[in-house]
Amino acid sequence: MSLSEESVFGYSKMMISSVVTTSGVLYRQHADLLHEIGDLRVYVKGQTIPLHGIDYHLEDGFRLSANIPYPAIVSSGSTFFFHTIEEVLAFIRRFPHPAVHIPKMIREAAGLLASGKLVAFPTETVYGLGADATNVEAVKRIFTAKERPTFDPLIVHIAHLEQLNGVVLDWDDRAQTLAEHFWPGPLTLVVKKDPAIDDLVTAGSWTVAVRMPANPIARSLIALSGKPIAAPSANLFGQTSPTSAAHVHEQLAGRIDAIVDGGSCTVGIESTVLSLVSEVPAILRPGKIGMKELLPFLPDLVLSPQIGVGGAPLESPGLLDTHYAPKTPLFLVEDLSAYTRRKDLGILLFEESSLSFEGEVIFISRKADPLEAARTLYRAMRTLDQKGLTALIAKRLPDEGIGLAINNRLEKAASKDLVKR
Ligand code: TXA
Ligand code: MG
Repeated sequence: MSLSEESVFGYSKMMISSVVTTSGVLYRQHADLLHEIGDLRVYVKGQTIPLHGIDYHLEDGFRLSANIPYPAIVSSGSTFFFHTIEEVLAFIRRFPHPAVHIPKMIREAAGLLASGKLVAFPTETVYGLGADATNVEAVKRIFTAKERPTFDPLIVHIAHLEQLNGVVLDWDDRAQTLAEHFWPGPLTLVVKKDPAIDDLVTAGSWTVAVRMPANPIARSLIALSGKPIAAPSANLFGQTSPTSAAHVHEQLAGRIDAIVDGGSCTVGIESTVLSLVSEVPAILRPGKIGMKELLPFLPDLVLSPQIGVGGAPLESPGLLDTHYAPKTPLFLVEDLSAYTRRKDLGILLFEESSLSFEGEVIFISRKADPLEAARTLYRAMRTLDQKGLTALIAKRLPDEGIGLAINNRLEKAASKDLVKR
């Protein structure tokens, strides 16, 4: 299957025939499209229809709730998240009958995975590029499509705990307890691998990283494929992770077999990677689930040093010190006031500022909300990256909760020329 615009799953120019139910500004601006369509309705977090005013919506993002009978998992309700109303409308156009079109898309994609093809799919963190983890030829194609070096191991994704059979060995009580508390969700566990998993998946390691994603499309897809699914983030190696189907399309169209569209990712940065096979349990990559959540289960938990020292073997190759990077150099600064007059800069802001900037400004949050910042960060970096700017400027967030994980990504995305560590 090629990835022309028309053949991305479920994409079709079907007419939307239903009746408008929403109101207010949104209604007036998009009366022709904002419908209650079958089982899909538009609402905004914290508000019920009718809607009032559009500013609030644009800041907080849009959510679509849909009733979808997911094949192969027990979940029917689903919420899709979007950053802009245009993305909502494009999604509605693509899936005018989501209860029919989305399960169909998932079935087709699961068939592709089962036959060794590469399928990009949404998870709650970022989009993954999936292949059957038990099919070495398929896994090889992941590395080729991403131009990823084979020393960087992949995470194996599962839909239910039975799929750990043939993937992991020595699944102990700690692993089981963590899985019960945090799965499905953005936590990856590094444990002993079953010899059935090929060295290519784990980059020759005796360990394997496993995760059960929370996104119901992802889980349904994995369950229907009947395979554990190896999936790195669906971007070219070293570049910014994708948080929408369009992002995947930009970098990987023509290199992979299909993209499953599930809107924008709600967490927005990659999962926490937690090693249970090191001397003491260690967070190898920080994420939404942090020390605070994990310490009650693992009192001796440590945070691994995050920057690889030149030449030393890395515990997790994703710890390479340049990663997640936009093409425009990014600089982390303490004080933004020196950058107000430069028209050629892109500024990432985490809260309203009394400064006024002549460059391009994007708010990753207006109210210093780190969860919102995580959701928006990669999208903002990609948007600024397309504007032909000289440099991007950002400030670190407070090092708490997901802020620590955001700072980790900012540090790695930052240009190594000027950043002091
Ligand atoms: O949220 C996520 O984890 C996303 C979604 C798609 O699930 N996936 C993701 O995959 O970020 P990737 O390949 O971009 O990053 C996987 C990270 C890398 O840092 C890799 O080195 C580490 O996990 N990793 C994988 N297997 C490992 C292992 N056996 N031991 C230590 N680290 C491992
Ligand atoms: Mg990645």
